[in-house]
Amino acid sequence: MERMTDLVVSDAAQVATPTGSDGDNSNSGLEIIENGAVAIEDGVVVAVGPTADVTRAHPPENATESVDATGQTVLPGFVDPHTHAVFAGDRVDEFTAKLAGASYQDILAEGGGILRTVRSTRDASRDELVANLLENLDTMLAHGTTTVEVKSGYGLDVETELKLLEAIDEAADRHPIDVVPTFMGAHAVPKGADTEEYVDRVIEEQLPAVADAGLAEFCDVFCEAGVFSVPQSRRILAAGQELGLTPKIHAEEFERLGGSQLAADCGATSADHLLQATDEDIAALGEAGVTPVLLPGTAFSLGAAYADAAAFEAADVPVALATDFNPNCFSQSMESVVELACNGMRMTPAAAIRGATATAARAVDRTDGTGTIREGAPGDLAIATVTNYQHIPYNFGVSNVRTVIKNGTVVHR
Ligand code: NIG
Ligand code: FE
Repeated sequence: MERMTDLVVSDAAQVATPTGSDGDNSNSGLEIIENGAVAIEDGVVVAVGPTADVTRAHPPENATESVDATGQTVLPGFVDPHTHAVFAGDRVDEFTAKLAGASYQDILAEGGGILRTVRSTRDASRDELVANLLENLDTMLAHGTTTVEVKSGYGLDVETELKLLEAIDEAADRHPIDVVPTFMGAHAVPKGADTEEYVDRVIEEQLPAVADAGLAEFCDVFCEAGVFSVPQSRRILAAGQELGLTPKIHAEEFERLGGSQLAADCGATSADHLLQATDEDIAALGEAGVTPVLLPGTAFSLGAAYADAAAFEAADVPVALATDFNPNCFSQSMESVVELACNGMRMTPAAAIRGATATAARAVDRTDGTGTIREGAPGDLAIATVTNYQHIPYNFGVSNVRTVIKNGTVVHR
């Protein structure tokens, strides 16, 4: 007897998926299937194409579950490859202060910003952090995110960094979104500490404890003037690498310090922010196969100039997009990021959606087809109530995603 298909999505106005194979790092955009369908078995896409073809082999009436996507657009679930989504408290008063002229660095130098979130996070229980993160994951899912990277970094001591990574682990177990954990003990220098001494503590105390616990896949550093220098960042990333943690880096956000070249030298998976990156930096990232991650929500929240997406495009270096969700950039929505990428950074809708899916998957080393809809890829879909993918950034400021599918199961509608 023929087996039943687990899930069939049919009659979509469009199925839009990044083109190219696993190793393909080209920026070739999206493939559009008009009147399309997708069939999923055992959590994996088994067919994608015109509805007539897919439903001949996988009739929706015989499927365990079917979704009629008439008038809607099916995309791969969004991949959000850069967030600081686990913390306690918010900083809404700093938001207002920044609007009145205070700068991000001044607030941090005065013990606010990251250091303030460190205080509230140290005071929070693990259960509170799990609950906060689950709520954020729910919001992400409702906006179409099916894979997310989450960094620690509001602990800045062994105990709290472990508490954060444990909270990430527990929330991941309890939520349909795939969560990629990153250790970021080098997110800021604790108040009153000497930077070199703190770097020693990250390397000698935090990193071994994190690696022992097996709670992180990546190690990230805030390489920035007044935070961690290039040599300090290099030491931390090298120590992490020795313990099996893959490097990532916050680079060239406020000042061009050389984080891009460091990312290229140490074979980082991604270099993120890049507001001040030069053509030389972009070329170095491209040659080394480091995925640049642009965070337009951060520039938007800071009132800063956006990263130069056109310079990456001109150099033929595809960019990933992420929310950077954190108390300074308070949005969990990849839909908003796609909108800002187009309306703010002047990316095309196709390039922005590719950056939020297939290229974003590269930025977290997910090479199993995550971020695409093709045979063998995870059955992760975001279905939007628009007839054409370009309407997503065009109709900005609203939630276009209605139905979300994770590993072949409808997890939001
Ligand atoms: O990527 N730049 C450092 N880290 C975050 C901000 C975290 C915070 O302000 O709480 C970022 O923007
Ligand atoms: Fe960040």
